[in-house]
Amino acid sequence: MDNFNFYSPTEFVFGKGREHEAGQMVKKYGGSKVLVHFGGGSAVKSGLLDRVTASLTAAEVPYVTLGGVKPNPRDTLVYEGIDLCKQENVDFILCVGGGSVIDSAKAIAAGVVYEGDFWDFYCGKAAVEKALPIGTVLTIAAAGSEGSGDTVVTQEATGLKRGAGSNALRPRFSIMNPELTMTLPPFQTACGACDIMAHVFERYFTNTPEVEITDRLCEAVLCTMVKETPRVIEDPMNYDARANIMWAGTVAHTNICGVGRSQDWNSHNLEHELSGLYDVAHGAGLAVVMPAWMEFVMPHNPMRFAQMANRVFGCAMNYEKPEMTAKEGIRCFRRFLHEIGLPINFAELGAKEEDIPVLVEKLGLGDGKTWGFVRLSSEDVAQIYHIAAKAAL
Ligand code: NZQ
Ligand code: ZN
Repeated sequence: MDNFNFYSPTEFVFGKGREHEAGQMVKKYGGSKVLVHFGGGSAVKSGLLDRVTASLTAAEVPYVTLGGVKPNPRDTLVYEGIDLCKQENVDFILCVGGGSVIDSAKAIAAGVVYEGDFWDFYCGKAAVEKALPIGTVLTIAAAGSEGSGDTVVTQEATGLKRGAGSNALRPRFSIMNPELTMTLPPFQTACGACDIMAHVFERYFTNTPEVEITDRLCEAVLCTMVKETPRVIEDPMNYDARANIMWAGTVAHTNICGVGRSQDWNSHNLEHELSGLYDVAHGAGLAVVMPAWMEFVMPHNPMRFAQMANRVFGCAMNYEKPEMTAKEGIRCFRRFLHEIGLPINFAELGAKEEDIPVLVEKLGLGDGKTWGFVRLSSEDVAQIYHIAAKAAL
């Protein structure tokens, strides 16, 4: 196991009705003027936004609102948010929504206290060192942004989707009421489930030996998702299944499953080019890319894939030919994604095979290679996209 620091300062406030505590939580963490940031309308429609703002009023915390965050959040709204926070002397951002709202809020939080263009953080020109404090009321189990220091934003003019990360961006608190996820369309629930599993797989496929504890934590999250996702697709009002998935989403991405080991993240980077170009849901893009990536890199360490196949999908272990077990595990994963209603190839996603050179170009590797479990060249990336384009059950 490698040396590591684990820092996860967020207070998680979990369970039924906990959104009523939003006002008190903001006060506890020093907010005196709040920006309430939300998405395209689900929180308004469900009445959640009213409950949250009522709790701010009850706690005597003044606020302004900024809605309209789109999935794959855009830089344009971030600039608006930064201006609004400056005008209104906002000192705390409260997000009501999913990963897109939280990521947009993180960008605003970093941008408000930075003299330059906030995009500097996303194009690698500057690192986030400070940010306004944020809190979240989570409405979808997916991105894990409620417990992570990461943010991903799309530059509207170029379609470039890029990430930034800093401990300064970790939420002070995250309110997590699984009931809030019951209004999700089944497709969004499934996208979230795929993203959660992908966050674990990005950590599971490692070159670091002797990492039993994190292997087992990863497998616990994956087994939970395999068991609980079909239950919520079948019965969206199942509180316990929703609760298990919601906590799995957080555990998957605070990095508690990934400490002390090398990680991959190539599937995420390849997916970001898809959602940047086609504006598709991140989890749907991952459902297409990740099994293809698995097929491409499996020969690097068939035993690791066979272990996943055996422990997560219950495939019989073939010790003489572990690659057979490995392949069966990847087939099980793709079948699982299909069964919960996700696309498994380019056509189902709405992507075009002839755009692959554009996707590769946007990834910007040139003659270089990515980092990760297997370092990928531009040609490797193109091959993975081609496998994804043609994938079938
Ligand atoms: O905008 P509204 O109307 O709220 O609708 C949203 C949106 O259309 C809807 N929704 C959310 N909660 C709902 C609901 N509809 C009904 N009832 C509810 N309770 O669901 C749609 C998707 O929401 P979004 O926030 O986009 O989903 P998600 O949490 O999957 O976030 C995706 C974004 O997070 C990024 C992705 O790239 C993508 O941009 N990621 C962020 C990460 C991070 N910050 O650590 C890591 C991830 O790997 C990921 O890259
Ligand atoms: Zn993700």
